[in-house]
Amino acid sequence: MPDTPVAALILAAGLGTRMKSTHPKVMHPLAGRPMVAHLLETVAALTPERVAVVVGPGMDAVAAAVAPHPVCVQAERLGTGDAAKAGRGELDGFAGPVLVLYGDTPLVSAATMRAVAGACGAGGGAAVVVVGFRPAGSHEYGRLVTDDAGVLTQIVEAKDATPEQLEIGLCNSGLMAISGEHLFALLDQIGTGNDKGEYYLTDIVALAYGQGLKTAIVEAEETELMGINSRAELAVAEAVVQTELRARAMAGGATLIDPTSVWLAHDTVLGQDVTVHPNVVFGPGVTIGDEAEIKSFSHLEGATVAAGAVIGPYARLRPGADIGVGARVGNFVEVKNATLGEGAKANHLSYIGDATVGAGANIGAGTITCNYDGFDKHRTKIGVNAFIGSNTALVAPVTIGDGAIVAAGSTIGRDVAADALAIERAPQEEKPGWATSFRQQRQAAKPKK
Ligand code: UD1
Ligand code: CA
Repeated sequence: MPDTPVAALILAAGLGTRMKSTHPKVMHPLAGRPMVAHLLETVAALTPERVAVVVGPGMDAVAAAVAPHPVCVQAERLGTGDAAKAGRGELDGFAGPVLVLYGDTPLVSAATMRAVAGACGAGGGAAVVVVGFRPAGSHEYGRLVTDDAGVLTQIVEAKDATPEQLEIGLCNSGLMAISGEHLFALLDQIGTGNDKGEYYLTDIVALAYGQGLKTAIVEAEETELMGINSRAELAVAEAVVQTELRARAMAGGATLIDPTSVWLAHDTVLGQDVTVHPNVVFGPGVTIGDEAEIKSFSHLEGATVAAGAVIGPYARLRPGADIGVGARVGNFVEVKNATLGEGAKANHLSYIGDATVGAGANIGAGTITCNYDGFDKHRTKIGVNAFIGSNTALVAPVTIGDGAIVAAGSTIGRDVAADALAIERAPQEEKPGWATSFRQQRQAAKPKK
């Protein structure tokens, strides 16, 4: 069955005072992307007809993060009810269910969004549907008040609640579906008679109920409905997301030897029979091919690792690292904006930046591509089956031909032809017996006791 056409309005203008941050709350990342981006991705699963995001003045970072979706500016932060009003222009004429979502509640599942949208609107649906949940422990969520028949009559904020109302276990997640036919008429009736003197979106429930409009509750789990108001709650949400990403990775056929010590990004792709050892961090934009192995204490970001490659322990793959089939990147090797061909090896202590390394090439310990002159970046090209001896500096731009050998300790600033040997080292001098006479002299010079 196709989804009912819905619209989504995301409220993200709040300052997030409790985060104590100079950045808008919805820009704080979960699994490597702003929390508002999580919400938008889930909303997209419902193929909404319209999506708009309410931001505060000057929140350009949020506007950029949510593009191409339009933003509506809430001129003054007068509360969630006032924020929803700012969506009027974008939602004008839309009569179907409008999902109103809080930007700080980013883990809502598509299934819950569908359920709440499905319970709203024409054909026996309610005018206002609220997603409720039962949070554990003490909390400040609004309480869902019902009448004797169990119908939702109002939402009361914790600050405005009576002691009896505070006993109510079922709380407001913030997610609602409101019929587009009634949304703005109801919003216009909200007042500010509450503890904070704000326009509360939650008042829409009592208004609808009072006017004989149907209200309803859809219940879901706390893990997807927790609101993020502080850094501590951000960390709890991150843990929830990580648990889900790890489970998904393992279900997809990757082994995570110690799942809780592996940190994944929202878009990490792990192929079949990939093994990830304990303590590995994946930043955004990483794809790992089948049978590859990522060993402990490696950090990967914006990198592609082909099938059967072995990374780490202690490797760092930065954006643009493209590691070929069966290649090896070992301990204390950093790769940035560089391609390693099939079977190439950089096993120890190297920096490979802005480079192309041919298939089968061997990069010795301590090889450095000197890619930056303080102004520009330059490329190093290393040919197929080339051998770079240990402790070599490759001063880019420079090309090492296929099959060439560079002697250990060389500083290479000029191109090396295929199959040639390049050696750049001061000739070694040897003085026979020098050490013995040195020791004797020093011994003789020592003061007698
Ligand atoms: C709100 C609900 C509460 C619910 C809880 C769920 C109200 C009055 N209360 O409380 O019932 O249990 O969420 O997490 O709605 N925002 C604006 N403009 C504003 C104020 C807020 O855009 O002027 C946005 C914020 O960016 C945020 C969302 O609305 O994403 C919720 O605001 P917040 O202040 O966090 O509400 P809570 O106090 O958590
Ligand atoms: Ca909140």
